[in-house]
Amino acid sequence: MTIVKAAQAALESAFSQHAIDVDPVLVRSTRPEFGDLQCNSIMAAAKRAGVNPRDLASSVADAINPALFADVSVAGPGFINLSLKDSTIASLATAQLLDPALLAERSGGERTVLDFGGPNVAKALHVGHLRSFVIGESLRRILIETGADVVSDIHLGDWGLQMGKLLVGVALEHGWKGDGDVLEAISAADVSTATVDDLGRFYKLGNAACDDEDVLSTARTLTALLQDGHPVLRAAWKSMRSTSVDDVVRTAAALGARFDLLLGESDAHEEIGPMLEDLIARSVVVESEGALVVPVAGDGLPEKAPPVILRKSDGAALYATTDLATLRQRVRDLKAQRIVYCTDDRQALQMAGVFSAARQAGYDDGADLVHVPFGTVRGRDGKPFKTRDGVAATLGDLLAAATEKASSSLADPTAAQVVAIGALKFADLGTPRRTGYVFDVDKMISFEGRTGPYLQYAYARIASMLDKAAASGTFPAAEVSISCREERDLLVECLWYPEALASAARSYEPSEIAERAWLIADAFSRFYAACPVLQSEDPPARLATCSLVAKVIEKCLWLLGIGVVRRM
Ligand code: ARG
Repeated sequence: MTIVKAAQAALESAFSQHAIDVDPVLVRSTRPEFGDLQCNSIMAAAKRAGVNPRDLASSVADAINPALFADVSVAGPGFINLSLKDSTIASLATAQLLDPALLAERSGGERTVLDFGGPNVAKALHVGHLRSFVIGESLRRILIETGADVVSDIHLGDWGLQMGKLLVGVALEHGWKGDGDVLEAISAADVSTATVDDLGRFYKLGNAACDDEDVLSTARTLTALLQDGHPVLRAAWKSMRSTSVDDVVRTAAALGARFDLLLGESDAHEEIGPMLEDLIARSVVVESEGALVVPVAGDGLPEKAPPVILRKSDGAALYATTDLATLRQRVRDLKAQRIVYCTDDRQALQMAGVFSAARQAGYDDGADLVHVPFGTVRGRDGKPFKTRDGVAATLGDLLAAATEKASSSLADPTAAQVVAIGALKFADLGTPRRTGYVFDVDKMISFEGRTGPYLQYAYARIASMLDKAAASGTFPAAEVSISCREERDLLVECLWYPEALASAARSYEPSEIAERAWLIADAFSRFYAACPVLQSEDPPARLATCSLVAKVIEKCLWLLGIGVVRRM
């Protein structure tokens, strides 16, 4: 039972005695003098019943069973303020200590496909992909922790014109000069030994050459041939795709991101033909200047939203086409009841268009379609983040910068790695995802302030203390108790964890978990400064509190995808 549920249960009978037939809504009091929780449901109920809200509030307050509360009072126009007894807090905290879920509730097992990461074959991972990996992985853990049945999929960008451009790059690298047989140049090239850096170079070469209309048209032709299964192109593509996937898998592992499926845009290819036939047969698509489009409106789209183009006049499929076909597969084959897409906010219109087309076609089958957008990482100059030489930062650059900084204060290389990744992730997840943030390595790696290392350090400090006590035969008490004001405050912060988890899951907002972890660590440092633990009269009692705090911080960091070490 959470702190909110416990108080709600106590209010329910008082509510029914007064014929108030809504559930009491309880929120955290904004100031300590208002107690721990506040109920705001009385004003609306009084209005409906045509009675004075303050009178109703007083009468309800009198009817509340006082067992859990040290004080119940009425304030303002009819708020009920509730202060919990220390014993109530201690027993809830004891229950939390014993529960691996830390009192969080798990619900229904909704089948959820989580689409994140979304790197592209042959293109270097950049800051935007870092955000998708980091936020996506955190959402994966948050949703699992609330009981969802999550299937994560990377949705690799491995299809479409970008592959035609890559193949042009391969040809150029292997002697093709723009005239002559492009297929011959590609078949002579052995791409199986190419590294990801080579692939990046091929793509850049091909992409730049496509500024020329003729080369671009070659890229289009190669794209079409590849999609039609041309054996030489397929073989080259397959080999390059697999080199790229190996690299992506390594990066994902370094970042602690887990993908249940490593599917790509290409895996929707077989679906596209039949899908378009179906959409034509049911008149979901219309023809417009030789292209096939779905007109979209409503669904949160801006007025005069452009139609979603599914087939261009030259017959080519587009990004939205593979997305729609993939969505259909996810609902039909994976039985998705919800699909969550974690991408950059510049794709908002694209996603909304695909969702609207899917609903018109009935491909969603009632599933929830959710776009979880995030903002831009900026440099200290406020512009999109670039490295010093002006190149948009790759993920590798960022990790290297953070690791270098962490290594200067931590001798143990494993700890330095955990701290570097933690710093990077916390800087990303610590602010609401839409806001974006300023990339500042010095600040993110600092052991002071609202940072990953600060939280990891708080955890390590407690873990070392528990280990030290255990070595001398002192163990945490089985029950949590309260012996000072700071201890009470700290436990209350821990007890709000389940609400933070539920809210983070509802709003797809990992920063709520980051904030909770920070508030707990901050309350811990006040407790630790004011109340000795190992030197106190009853070390096991205070160790019980410490051990709960360590558990909650560790869980929050896990939800953010951040590791901990027991010694720093
Ligand atoms: N590959 C895309 C990019 O780099 C992201 C893919 C996002 N997922 C999706 N289903 N569209 O921008």
